[in-house]
Amino acid sequence: MNAIDQRAGADGLAYLSGFGNEFASEAIAGALPRGQNSPQHVPLGLYAEQFSATAFTVPRREARRTWLYRIMPSARHQRFQPIEQPLLAGPLAPPNPNRMRWDPIPIPENPTDFLEGLITIGANSEATAPAGVSIHVYVANRSMQRAFFDADGELLLVPQTGRLRLVTECGRLDVAPGEIAIVPRGMKFRVDLHDAQARGYVCENHGAALRLPDLGPIGSNGLANPRDFLAPQAWFEERAAPTELVQKFQGTLWSTMLDRSPFDVVAWHGNAVPCKYDLALFNTIGTVSFDHPDPSIFTVLTSPTAVAGVANVDFVIFPPRWMVAEHTFRPPWFHRNVMNECMGLVRGEYDAKAGGFLPGGMSLHSCMSAHGPDAASTERAIAADLAPQKIDNTLAFMFETSLVIRPSAYALAAPQWQKDYDQCWDGLKPTFSGQSR
Ligand SMILES: [Fe+2]
Repeated sequence: MNAIDQRAGADGLAYLSGFGNEFASEAIAGALPRGQNSPQHVPLGLYAEQFSATAFTVPRREARRTWLYRIMPSARHQRFQPIEQPLLAGPLAPPNPNRMRWDPIPIPENPTDFLEGLITIGANSEATAPAGVSIHVYVANRSMQRAFFDADGELLLVPQTGRLRLVTECGRLDVAPGEIAIVPRGMKFRVDLHDAQARGYVCENHGAALRLPDLGPIGSNGLANPRDFLAPQAWFEERAAPTELVQKFQGTLWSTMLDRSPFDVVAWHGNAVPCKYDLALFNTIGTVSFDHPDPSIFTVLTSPTAVAGVANVDFVIFPPRWMVAEHTFRPPWFHRNVMNECMGLVRGEYDAKAGGFLPGGMSLHSCMSAHGPDAASTERAIAADLAPQKIDNTLAFMFETSLVIRPSAYALAAPQWQKDYDQCWDGLKPTFSGQSR
């Protein structure tokens, strides 16, 4: 059995440590079969079920699967019926090259769970042909009384406000703003709220599973270190109460009723597991001389494509860090990018914008759209005394994807869409004088 990190976190839950490990966990000693996966008589009278998050025959380094030992097999359920959730995977607007930004989507006052409050802001593809990524926000004020799984993609959750407890088939994870969580495609989970309200971002990854980026010349340590990713320990409930199970399948939600809780996995082993990561543990690397590297230096996780170095999606963060570059324009430079950038803000202020980009808000800069610091940030940066400066109390992030993100019809109809976003660059003044300073 793998080494198990028995440290209970501040939240009281204990986790297994490491990214992509072959873990093994049992909530009752002896529940896990030894030496084989599918014995005729599974210990404790459990059923064995394989959960395959990748095709059986992918190269071993890509393979993700977990063996679940549960009270009842998942197969025991009635027919799924479609249910309405028009804000999720709703119609996309036509492709639009304009720079866009949104204020935070308000948290509703009506009782709303994570699933009801899951709203699609944009996607690379139509819901019936999921490819690339879909970008959602969630707004919720109550815990789910049902279970959910997403057949369309892996979910990367980025809480912005409100602590969550993810109850999954592999166990429980507590996730707070400043942390992220990954739920494998198809894994059943439910979201309980520790606080009265919750809001955050979701990247639904329809491509290759997220993994840590290669480090190249950085070497064998740095950025997000594997040991800081935490997977749950086996936990189960034996509850014979009617429980709704909802799945997202080709963009539509489908529901069925179970006669018991689906969180009945007593033991498991494998590497297709949910996990969480505290972004404060990201080993941020930047220049100690001049200029600053491309923001890919801030990549936490990546979903690769078949083209080397071209990501289906990179998850990139802009965490607290020191700015020490000499004779350098220190904010993110003006640029035009073949990749598509969808940004969010967990807390604080992003150093390229002097206002208007709010915690809980989003921006979208599509392929080759020109962007960079706003006029006020630019003016400030050109005039700055370049002493070492700590950018603190901030956490911005980016989902950067190789396919153009089309905004949803909802996003373009939302009153939170800032139609005056372009004006943040209006104040840029010509400084050309024909002479160098
Ligand atoms: Fe950018």
